This record gives sequence, structure tokens and C-alpha cells, in this order.
Amino acid sequence: MTTKTVGNSGIAVSALGMGCWAIGGPMRLGDLEVGWGAVDDDESVRAIHAAMAAGVTLFDTAANYGTGHSERVLGRALAGRRSEAVLATKFGHRIDESARLILDVAVEPEDVRASCEASMRRLGTDYLDLFQLHVGDLDPARADDVRDTLESLVAEGSIRAYGWSTDDVDRARRFAGTGTCAAIQHTLNVMQDDPEMLALCERTGMASIARSPLGMGVLTGMFRAGDRLPDDDVRAQRLEWMAYFRDGRPNEQWLTRLSQIRDVLTSGGRTLAQGALAWLWARSPVTIPIPGIRTVRQAEENAGAMAFGPLTSAELAEIDRLSAPVAGDLVR
Ligand SMILES: NC(=O)c1ccc[n+]([C@@H]2O[C@H](COP(=O)([O-])OP(=O)(O)OC[C@H]3O[C@@H](n4cnc5c(N)ncnc54)[C@H](OP(=O)(O)O)[C@@H]3O)[C@@H](O)[C@H]2O)c1
Repeated sequence: MTTKTVGNSGIAVSALGMGCWAIGGPMRLGDLEVGWGAVDDDESVRAIHAAMAAGVTLFDTAANYGTGHSERVLGRALAGRRSEAVLATKFGHRIDESARLILDVAVEPEDVRASCEASMRRLGTDYLDLFQLHVGDLDPARADDVRDTLESLVAEGSIRAYGWSTDDVDRARRFAGTGTCAAIQHTLNVMQDDPEMLALCERTGMASIARSPLGMGVLTGMFRAGDRLPDDDVRAQRLEWMAYFRDGRPNEQWLTRLSQIRDVLTSGGRTLAQGALAWLWARSPVTIPIPGIRTVRQAEENAGAMAFGPLTSAELAEIDRLSAPVAGDLVR
């Protein structure tokens, strides 16, 4: 249970990865702040080391996260230890590192190659394990060219495998099961199931890299109704896909549901966060959750979920029964 392979790539990873968005610190998309507020890089490095000590080998980052900062911090933490880690990063936008701005979509072959080089430089490595397209809504007509460039990068040894970070099953279909594609990264958690995407991953030998597995923190039980996130936190922004928080406050429908399933998630001595991760492993054998982590405590708690393993099928069914979606609900 503590190890998995990234789809059909043969790349072995821990069953749980570390999401590295938050440790990137501030970044903006137009006028919107899409980072998670200020970060303490020394604490981020300690968190990465704590995750490794607890058995985590997969790290998911992106050029966009802190416009290169997340990759640099990860590179710093992994200095001299590259072989112990599986590095997944993402590309697809131009970035202005000094202004901390995410700019336009850039997926022409020369853009993809430049992005690969820049990520390797920031991470302090000469190869990437998994290179993921970060533009979830890219015009599907452009996807084939991107895939061709990625195949060339595999042939040249710069990347071992690639994937697409998208919630759109039709787009995922253009990559899944072709060439050296090994993973689809998509939103998946106990409140946001995605049977169609999971079926695609299972059928085509892809890993389902489960992003926002803790509902951006809501599923850990750390928030109470009315709590307000600071304005410099992405969770306080008005974003179309932000189901977890509304106007900077936790979605009360989620909090209600969480209280209904709390006892099942915490069965056997798990914390709530560990239960939410256990749901993902139970949901499909191909899921690899990558909870966002920025402290040693979070690293140890989340990695500790691996020792408990997946929920049982009876617990899974009980959660379905207790939290059956209602009309107009969030569940996709
Ligand atoms: N488009 C994309 O490709 C995309 C989109 C979203 C995410 N991702 C990837 O998926 C990763 C995870 O998703 P996410 O960061 O959106 O959300 P998440 O993993 O659902 O939630 C992460 C947040 O939950 C809190 N947390 C984590 N462990 C905790 C614990 N044990 N106890 C209490 N609180 C805990 C932390 O927030 P606090 O520090 O504030 O407490 C953390 O930043 C990202 O880091 C990124 O690598 C990719």
C-alpha cells in the first residue's frame, strides 16, 4: 500500500505525494492573488525533509507556483538527494519571475522546451520524472502538437513521462493511453468524486493524481463556519472553480457534509485529514493523492495516513449513503 506506480510508466512512488503549490508563496494571475500567502522557506524545506523521512517520494510542483519559487525551494531541499525523489512539475504559461506574475499560455514546441529547461534549472536536476501540461482548458486542437513535443523530450531523456492536469475528461482522452503519457492530474476528494475520469485512468493505465485531496484544507476539519481567509490567500478569491470556499469563508454545505461523514473518516484512529486521504485510495487503485503541505506537522500527519491504508469497501459505501448528493449539489 505504501508504494504505487505512476500509471504504466514503471516509475515507483510513495502512495502519497506532496503538493508544493502553497510553498511557492505569492503569485498573481492578472489582478488576482493565486498564492497561499507568505511562506517561510526554511519551514518549507523542513516540511519536505519531514515528508521524505516519513516515506514520501513524489513531489508535485509547477513553474507557476510562486513563478518558479516552489521549484527553487524544492531544488534546495533535494540538493544531494535527487535520486530519492520523483519530481512532477507543470508547464504551459509564460511567467515573470521577478514580478511574480503568471502571463499568457505558451505551448508551442519552443515554449515547452524552454519551460522544461527552466524547471530543470530551478529544481537543480538534469531530468524531470513527470512533466504535466498545466493548461486545463487548452484548445484540444493544440494538444496533439504538445504531445509530440513531449514525446521528443522523452526520447531525448529530459523527461521520463508526461501527463495533463485537467478536469475535462474529453481533453484527458487526447493524452490518456497514448505514447508515454502516464498520468492525469485532476480534482478528486471525498466531496468531489469523478467516476468518469477514474474510469478513463483505470482503462488506459494512467495514474489519477488527485489534486486538492483535502478540499484546500476544509476536509481537515481546521475550519469553522464563518472563518475568514486573509485577502492574500487564493482561497479568499472569487474563482469560478473555488468550491471549497465562498467569499473567503469555508463552504457551509461542505462543513455540514463533513460532520455527517466524520465518524467514518476517523474510524480506526485516523485523523480527519488521514480519513480523507484513505477515501481516495479506497476509491480506485490508480489514485495518488498529493495533499498540499507547508509545515512539518502537516507532512507527518498526511504521510502517516499511509500506515492506515485505504478505507474498507463497507466504509466507502457508508460514506456514499451518508453524503448522497442532493439536487444542485457540488458533486460532479
Ligand atoms: N491546476 C492544477 O494543476 C492544480 C490545482 C490545484 C492543486 N494542484 C496540486 O495539488 C496539490 C494539493 O492541492 P491543494 O493545495 O489545492 O489543496 P489540498 O491538498 O486539498 O489542501 C492543502 C491545504 O490543506 C491544509 N493542510 C494540509 N494538510 C493538513 C493537515 N494535515 N492538517 C490541517 N491542514 C492541512 C494546508 O493549508 P494551510 O497551510 O493553510 O493550513 C494545505 O496548504 C497542490 O499543492 C498542487 O501541487 C494542482
